[in-house]
Amino acid sequence: SRRVLSGVQPTGALHLGNYLGALVKFTRLQNEMETFIFVADMHAITVWQDPKLLTSQVREIAAAYLASGLDPAKATIFPQSAVPEHAQLAWVFNCVARLGWLDRMTQFKDKAGKHKERESVGLYTYPVLQAADILVYKATHVPVGEDQRQHLELTRDIAAKFNHDFDVPGFFPLPEALTEGPGARIMSLRDGSAKMSKSDPSDNSRLNLMDDADAISQKIRKARTDPDPLPETLEELKDRPEALNLIGIYAALSERTAADVLAEFTGQGFGQSFKPMLADLAVARFGAISGEMRRLMSQPDEIDRILAAGAEKAREAAAPTLAEVKKIVGFWGS
Ligand code: TYM
Repeated sequence: SRRVLSGVQPTGALHLGNYLGALVKFTRLQNEMETFIFVADMHAITVWQDPKLLTSQVREIAAAYLASGLDPAKATIFPQSAVPEHAQLAWVFNCVARLGWLDRMTQFKDKAGKHKERESVGLYTYPVLQAADILVYKATHVPVGEDQRQHLELTRDIAAKFNHDFDVPGFFPLPEALTEGPGARIMSLRDGSAKMSKSDPSDNSRLNLMDDADAISQKIRKARTDPDPLPETLEELKDRPEALNLIGIYAALSERTAADVLAEFTGQGFGQSFKPMLADLAVARFGAISGEMRRLMSQPDEIDRILAAGAEKAREAAAPTLAEVKKIVGFWGS
């Protein structure tokens, strides 16, 4: 059977990369497969989170899911920490994964920087919890941005080693990362070689889902480009990362191919009509979403009801896997 699982961390404002790399795909996939989408609050605390803010940040991500089109009647939406089976399976996986595998994770290296001995142990084993998130539902399809590919490969390695070590062939599926399309790797508006990120100190580097029309237009107007006119083929853009990024964003927001968008603007500079039209596209899309997010955030009880119902459904789906795992491992009483 086919199952979708994915999640987003409640660690600050969502941006265009999160939206195009993840949220848009969730909304599409809920019509095709059984879908589980959670808020990764346990992943969030791998770096310090103010306890007074965490709950509202979780609600804000849930609001973003709903506002961007996730339907609780189709997709199961829940907070990670409300389903303890994730953490329980993660422990078993901590004993399956090898230190050498985690040592290779580039995201840890990027986040930890020079002083890795001062980071939490959780930040290091973070991808093991991610594998548990996915495999506790025996999910087969995981919509994520490009930056999560390595974590998905680790998930497959853990699944394969578990199946092999305990001699249970096929027990865990080897899940597939869904990273296709122009939205899978959105770059910074200020630097075409850095990905758009919540942690970039410059707010001008990203479009936030909650930005107002003025902010969006201004950020796009200021977005770094080059003075050359747009060429005919994408091939000719390969050494112009900022230009390529803007074309990709335009394509993703208008649900067209990058080649098609490029053809429309061939021979023009960015300032003429490309940037104003891109700003209009982004304002139209984000305006509708942020308006709905604000409405939902003013009704936290409604969000909490959806999360509670989702958590209950998620536990029903996760519990059988965990019961089987305990038996396979040989834990007492199982
Ligand atoms: P997080 O919260 O950093 O990001 C959420 C999603 O947004 C995608 N994304 C991007 N996509 C395109 N361009 C960008 N510039 C960009 N920046 C971020 C991410 O790839 C992600 O899909 N570890 C995950 C959360 C997680 C998870 C999971 C995901 C925990 N458990 C299980 C899938 C399955 C994370 O930190 O995402």
